[in-house]
Amino acid sequence: MAGLRLNAPSVPALLLVAGSVVNGLSFEIPSSAPANSSGQLDAAPVGISFEFFAFPEYFQQLPLTNSCLGQLHEAMGAYSPIRIGGTTQDRATYNASLSSAVSYSVDSPDDAPETLTFGDSFMDIAAAYEGTVTVGLNRRLDNLSNTIAAAKIAKSKIANLYAIELGNEPNFFTSSDPIADGETWTAAADAASQVSWQASVSDALDEKSFAQAGVFFGLGSFSVTNLAEKEEDTDSTQYVRSFCHHYYPQSASTADLDELMSHTEIVDGVTEFQAQVVAAQNLSKDFVFGETNSATGGGGGISPTFGAGLWILDYVMQATILGVKQLFFHQGTIGNCPYCWWDESVNAPFYGAYTAALALSGASKIAELDTADTRFAAYVFYDSSDEPIRVLLYNSEYYASGTRSSVNVTLSGIPSTSTSVSAVRLTGDAATTIVGEGAITVAGQTFANGTCELQGTKNMETTDETAGEATFTVQASEALLIYL
Ligand SMILES: *[C@@H]1O[C@H](CO)[C@@H](O)[C@H](O)[C@H]1NC(C)=O
Ligand SMILES: *[C@@H]1O[C@H](CO)[C@@H](O)[C@H](O)[C@H]1NC(C)=O
Ligand SMILES: *[C@@H]1O[C@H](CO)[C@@H](O)[C@H](O)[C@H]1NC(C)=O
Ligand SMILES: *[C@@H]1O[C@H](CO)[C@@H](O)[C@H](O)[C@H]1NC(C)=O
Ligand SMILES: *[C@@H]1O[C@H](CO)[C@@H](O)[C@H](O)[C@H]1NC(C)=O
Ligand SMILES: *[C@@H]1O[C@H](CO)[C@@H](O)[C@H](O)[C@H]1NC(C)=O
Repeated sequence: MAGLRLNAPSVPALLLVAGSVVNGLSFEIPSSAPANSSGQLDAAPVGISFEFFAFPEYFQQLPLTNSCLGQLHEAMGAYSPIRIGGTTQDRATYNASLSSAVSYSVDSPDDAPETLTFGDSFMDIAAAYEGTVTVGLNRRLDNLSNTIAAAKIAKSKIANLYAIELGNEPNFFTSSDPIADGETWTAAADAASQVSWQASVSDALDEKSFAQAGVFFGLGSFSVTNLAEKEEDTDSTQYVRSFCHHYYPQSASTADLDELMSHTEIVDGVTEFQAQVVAAQNLSKDFVFGETNSATGGGGGISPTFGAGLWILDYVMQATILGVKQLFFHQGTIGNCPYCWWDESVNAPFYGAYTAALALSGASKIAELDTADTRFAAYVFYDSSDEPIRVLLYNSEYYASGTRSSVNVTLSGIPSTSTSVSAVRLTGDAATTIVGEGAITVAGQTFANGTCELQGTKNMETTDETAGEATFTVQASEALLIYL
């Protein structure tokens, strides 16, 4: 018992946990996907969102972009989808005469531009990426012909174009934005504007089912449930490929790492989007978290930490269970972006994303084995033959310093025919550790700053298994991916 701290008063809470045993936890692995499993998973749930103005720079000036995307591809067995957009998509104007990808000026390299133009070569960079691409275009400035011209270039150049967004986070538009035409900007005004623009762009592109609709920040009256109703009433669902909300569980000014990485908090936060996901599913449309990360405003002090990496891992699992097709983790201004996965170095959050990619690789379904009421999470992954292939254990107890607690977890129902199972451990010195100030490893390895290559000796841990049972130890602020 020493050190095992669950959410509620420790001993009674422990006794309530299904399958708990005196000195740890136990989970039985269902031999086929249980009723509460996810639907069919996408091949590449772990995606990336690039801030519009910075997107060319990521690919042209930051070698880690291609190499780390390559690592994710290798881990997941599929290319990460990317989305290009964000606040600056609604400040951008297409200029067919511009030979460079983007043109803007800023006072400080830490700033995002207030206005910018982009040319055809912007879309060439997007076209060279091997995964699917979602392009966010401008609606705020109310220049429909310009957005149509840009959409045509995107469509003609990007073979892997998945969808086009028309405006970013329109819940933040105001009456002084050109699109509002001096009127109060409301959810109803926005919905009318979204369907009208969808029809115009569809007509110009001669393409149905092209729009990523919604693109709302958080939850409120601007929501997919409300927009979906408008889409239906106006016979506009034909234009929609996917619906989208943005989700940042914390804001930089009030960020709390203990809360960010807590399994129960993650479950509660993701579950709030259930009605939005169902509304999309009711119309047979995809639902994505089209822009997401740990904290708004580029991230705060908590964002570059190992704990934020653990957050990514658990959050991706919860979202996919809920029915979110893909999550696009936002990468902002290079050099001024605490939550970014790489810049000059490969940062701590990337370790969580990489482990999520490993866990989901080739998986058809995921099920949660814990009951979501403690800080300990357990997931099982099934392949297309409905066989369990992996288990992910996550001990979300916050560890910063002092004595580190751990939990012993016994898994039963392991289908293996051998006498041991192997596992990859995702660990770090503490939840608060950032790259360069302490150890963060996945299977004992680290990502090299220059190349994103794994360096060090790979340590696949092996654990004895008897009659389908094996016991694993997971420390506070640590995860273990077990290969069955
Ligand atoms: C986990 O199991 C080991 C080996 O049986 C034991 O020494 C240790 O005390 C256990 N840890 C906890 C937290 O129960
Ligand atoms: C478009 O780009 C061309 C070439 O750089 C430039 O001469 C022109 O001023 C730009 N137009 C606008 C409206 O920015
Ligand atoms: C809209 O974009 C077009 C080019 O596509 C440009 O000629 C026009 O000046 C723009 N209108 C406004 C109001 O900025
Ligand atoms: C989804 O469809 C079901 C069944 O038609 C309906 O009861 C439910 O209200 C719909 N939910 C949303 C969020 O649209
Ligand atoms: C899902 O079902 C499994 C197997 O029936 C059960 O052990 C687990 O607790 C359930 N998960 C949740 C989150 O209720
Ligand atoms: C990566 O770069 C960071 C920051 O410059 C440095 O502190 C760290 O030691 C480097 N990590 C590796 C694995 O080389």
